[in-house]
Amino acid sequence: MELAGKRIVLGITGGIAAYKAAELVRLLIKEGASVHVVMSEAATHFVTPVTFQALSGKLVFTDQWDPRVANNMAHIDLSREADALLVAPASADFLAKLAGGLADDLLTTLVLARDCPLLVAPAMNRQMWENPATRRNIAVLRSDGVSVIGPACGDQACGETGPGRMLEPEEIVDETIAHFQPQLLAGKRLLLTAGPTFEAIDPVRGITNLSSGKMGYAIARAAREAGAQVTLVSGPVSLPCPRGVTRISVTSALQMHAAVLGQVADNDVFVAVAAVADYRPAEPLDQKIKKAAQAAPPAIELVQNPDILGEIAALPAPPLCVGFAAESEKLAEYAESKRRSKKIPLIVGNLIHDGFGGDDNRLVLFDDEGQHALPVAPKIDLARHLVAHIAALLEKRQCTPASTG
Ligand code: CTP
Repeated sequence: MELAGKRIVLGITGGIAAYKAAELVRLLIKEGASVHVVMSEAATHFVTPVTFQALSGKLVFTDQWDPRVANNMAHIDLSREADALLVAPASADFLAKLAGGLADDLLTTLVLARDCPLLVAPAMNRQMWENPATRRNIAVLRSDGVSVIGPACGDQACGETGPGRMLEPEEIVDETIAHFQPQLLAGKRLLLTAGPTFEAIDPVRGITNLSSGKMGYAIARAAREAGAQVTLVSGPVSLPCPRGVTRISVTSALQMHAAVLGQVADNDVFVAVAAVADYRPAEPLDQKIKKAAQAAPPAIELVQNPDILGEIAALPAPPLCVGFAAESEKLAEYAESKRRSKKIPLIVGNLIHDGFGGDDNRLVLFDDEGQHALPVAPKIDLARHLVAHIAALLEKRQCTPASTG
């Protein structure tokens, strides 16, 4: 329920993607928002107001002169109590009107009269999106403070392929949720590792662990929501990359090490969430190991992997380094000893049975001030708390430039 208590006015304009707005209403309501739908006249040719009235449980407005509005000021009434105005799909024509400040129907009048943030999810043919007039209009809207979310690239209803597809309803909901998060890391760059590593024994076998990557991916999403430019170096997981995050996929600890060293310059924060294998087979085989009857099981010689976090923390001017300690016992003792040995300002401890692989977790943050317990919660909530803690440490560090780590 990440939009609990939020009142969202959803504008729908004319375009085939209008059919996806029905699912969007459902998902916004599922997140706790109350949704008030306003449709342009063109939108009603694609989908009917009845659909949206049934889904939102609220009257749907399409007309500036709607006799149901006692004071005849639907445009003012609807916008005044809204926490956000979201237009999805936003057609090329609607965006052009918006850029020009036109107000010739209820939706455009409402947008002009708003005193809340505006998000638009463009949807149009790729040539329309790439047309210089649309590019100009989008630039104007961005400079006017409008959040333009999408469009995506892909198959279009007209049979062509390219940019102009409206984002999927789930993505629009995520962007709307992100919009309400405080911009604690605006202008900052954050690099993180997540997931397990896989250390090859032969072409089909290897050493890995049960890390799901969910905590790291949640932190990547939360940091991006908070305004950071995020690079995620990820071991093999089956999770989608959070929107707006740059992902570099790797397999082994050595690849993760190389990717992190290649990216670390100019980052303000490094968060090492990955469960990096401490050891790898000394000589991975090119051919599959065959079992031989009555032969002794093969011995696998291991060598140590580089400590990525330790190395980054030891750089002459390191970013603010945050480590993770997943322990099965003695959390405080082990986490603090890792924090000291790696010389990092913050380590996030968790007991394996609390959250490994699941959607919830319980964390304890260890820093110079002591311990801060974060009770059981969804990983995205914990990630947002951690991001706030990191932002506070960054600010403190800026006030004391002589400190390291
Ligand atoms: N880490 C790393 N590179 C490694 C190993 C760990 O960057 N080669 C990072 C992890 O991402 C995590 C922290 O270091 O942030 C974990 O510390 P570590 O002491 O290496 O943890 P474990 O490998 O779990 O240690 P142990 O098996 O002794 O508990």
